[in-house]
Amino acid sequence: MTAIVLYCRPGFEKECGAEIQEKASWNEVYGYLELKKNQGIVYFHLNNADEGDALIKKMPLNRLIFARQWFLTLTEKIELPDYNRVEAIIEVLGNEWQYAELRMETADTNDGKSLSKFCRKLAVPLRQALRKSKSLTEKGDNEGAILHALFLSGQEVILGYSVAHNSSPHVMGIPRLKFPNKSPSRSTLKLDEAFLYFIPRDEWDTRLTSGMNAVDLGAAPGGWTYQLVRRGMMVTAIDNGAMAESLMETGQVKHKMMDGFKYIPMKQNVYWLVCDMIEKPQRVAKLMAEWLLHGYCKEAIFNLKLPMKGRYQQVNNDLQAMKDAFSQYKVKYELFAKHLYYDREEITVHARLLSPLPDFDK
Ligand SMILES: C[S@@+](CC[C@H](N)C(=O)[O-])C[C@H]1O[C@@H](n2cnc3c(N)ncnc32)[C@H](O)[C@@H]1O
Repeated sequence: MTAIVLYCRPGFEKECGAEIQEKASWNEVYGYLELKKNQGIVYFHLNNADEGDALIKKMPLNRLIFARQWFLTLTEKIELPDYNRVEAIIEVLGNEWQYAELRMETADTNDGKSLSKFCRKLAVPLRQALRKSKSLTEKGDNEGAILHALFLSGQEVILGYSVAHNSSPHVMGIPRLKFPNKSPSRSTLKLDEAFLYFIPRDEWDTRLTSGMNAVDLGAAPGGWTYQLVRRGMMVTAIDNGAMAESLMETGQVKHKMMDGFKYIPMKQNVYWLVCDMIEKPQRVAKLMAEWLLHGYCKEAIFNLKLPMKGRYQQVNNDLQAMKDAFSQYKVKYELFAKHLYYDREEITVHARLLSPLPDFDK
């Protein structure tokens, strides 16, 4: 049976499943879910196999919050022999279609990770054989399809494809970022990933550049501030907790010990607002909408903490509250949310207004 396979953080299969089922139904595509608990893999089996191709092309992956990556299956689970695995895969795949890239994938679990050496070794002869059968074209074809080989074990693989323009550029949707030694906290990787994910590289010169002013709410000890400072920004860091000395010594950081919900910038010259306060997500979402609507910042990246239960519903409610606030003032906006790889019990949101600020006096 044809399925859309989605990768998510292990433990979030229910949310990822609920989301694909709901959003596919908006496109009149229906199916049933098979969840592998704590495996970070969701199978959305399609009632009508013919609808899968259009769905993975039409429905933007960046509109799915909990899915890191996806593909449409080409095969059921293939049982591999102990020898001649490559030949077995090529035989099932045939050579009707061409792919721009091969991705060797596993579950994002310890068992999955233990397969990575096996996958690396198999990738070399598999790529060669795919090239020989003309199934794999030359590198760098960004427009083409990506062939996914999801190894459930050394003996089982599922093959599928995604389209390059609507899938993650990273294997299993996981960007491998290097922890910068000078950062005072590991949280730094969350903002690093968020910039990478939400802001296209070719816009970094105008949207993420040195000389900009930024505000970091809930900044201590300074992992997020570090990301702003290293990009040459001037940062106002709001937190009652202490900021790392190394950051204060750069001369780029002003630390204000106060409540992030009470701080309002004196001048309208702040470009970035980032916020990692551990606070009720409803309160944070409301605060972010207010900052944007009042023009206190141009763009915001913030985390919304997830509750223990009803996580998908809560996220939807929080985002809807922001959309309602923007709609009330008739402004155009961009609002994307993602459960990023370096996120745990939170999602990351990017928001900005695309039309002039509302006139509150009217
Ligand atoms: C997860 S930590 C932030 C880590 C930081 N982003 C980093 O990378 O180092 C959350 C911070 O939010 C701060 N915080 C929570 N509520 C706050 C509030 N109402 N106003 C200001 N800071 C707050 C806490 O003091 C804590 O330092």
